[in-house]
Amino acid sequence: MAGDIVSINNLRVSFPSESARIYPVDGVSLKILKGETLGLVGESGCGKSMTSLALMGLLPRPLGRVDGGEIIFKGRNLIGIADAEMAKVRGRDISMIFQDPMTSLNPVYTVGDQIIEAIQAHERVPRTEARRVAVDMLRKVGIPSPEKRIGDYPHLMSGGMRQRVMIAMALSLKPELLIADEPTTALDVTIQAQILYLMNDLRRDLGMSILLITHNMGLVAENADRIAVMYAGRILEEAPTKGLFASPLHPYSRGLLDSIPRMTGGGDKLQSIPGMVPPLNDLPKGCKFFGRCARSTEPCETKEPPLFQKGEGHSVRCWLYEE
Ligand SMILES: Nc1ncnc2c1ncn2[C@@H]1O[C@H](COP(=O)(O)OP(=O)(O)O)[C@@H](O)[C@H]1O
Ligand code: SF4
Ligand SMILES: [Mg+2]
Repeated sequence: MAGDIVSINNLRVSFPSESARIYPVDGVSLKILKGETLGLVGESGCGKSMTSLALMGLLPRPLGRVDGGEIIFKGRNLIGIADAEMAKVRGRDISMIFQDPMTSLNPVYTVGDQIIEAIQAHERVPRTEARRVAVDMLRKVGIPSPEKRIGDYPHLMSGGMRQRVMIAMALSLKPELLIADEPTTALDVTIQAQILYLMNDLRRDLGMSILLITHNMGLVAENADRIAVMYAGRILEEAPTKGLFASPLHPYSRGLLDSIPRMTGGGDKLQSIPGMVPPLNDLPKGCKFFGRCARSTEPCETKEPPLFQKGEGHSVRCWLYEE
């Protein structure tokens, strides 16, 4: 379809476990349009990071592997392409801000050298120019005295500072697609707002697309154009942000929305979804939300629902919406 930057079709990712292989991502289909922010939300362990690592060609090897499906990026299937090709795509087209900033900076180089090297691997620019871009971007992500801090080694910086360095590095590559996996969890609220503002700025200026991964519904409410709700390796609901917040259909989505603390002063209590995410080697046979759902009906226990279309761009995987 015109306008897609990436189209993930029926993606499956598997890992070995004691008995059989488990599928942290099991039949995920998602499209991200040029210039849009797609929010991918769900509780911890539902497969958000594995989806993004598959997209980057960075699943933990040798255990994790793609077991089916396609990732079409600008018309080309990225599944199965050579490592060197995938490395080019990562340098040039897709950048990722990782959930864990500690492991993604090299301890033996200064942060400046790492950003400058990344910029120069990406574009033919002189070192002085790359350095200028790096200092500018460090300033934009809220690092004080960036001309000085650019010479620091990562271990001299706090977790929040390192996270900002990673964000500066990802953004200075001007990617066509930015994957931001829980990008602001290590940061205080003011810096969070600043980073999101910066990401949205670049989205507007460069036409960049963003896959914003988070368990924070407030963050996607403010920043995403569309939202996909993930649970046990599956997409349970997908809708434009306004539509999802105005009328969430899936009982799981409703639970997630109810768990947002309300600031209206009306004395609303924090609600949460009962029960726990089931382990991947012991999922319910039918609907994967069966057992936590207060509205389950006859087919739920034995038959997994397909996605039902409910209006413009709104789909939901729940038997309550069978026509
Ligand atoms: N290295 C691993 N080996 C085996 N299974 C893993 C590994 N890492 C994650 N998983 C499984 O994949 C599931 C999805 O993980 P992840 O994508 O990190 O979730 P999320 O990002 O939504 O919190 C986890 O629940 C876990 O069972
Ligand atoms: S399919 Fe059934 S169990 Fe699953 S969310 Fe819908 S009502 Fe609940
Ligand atoms: Mg994660």
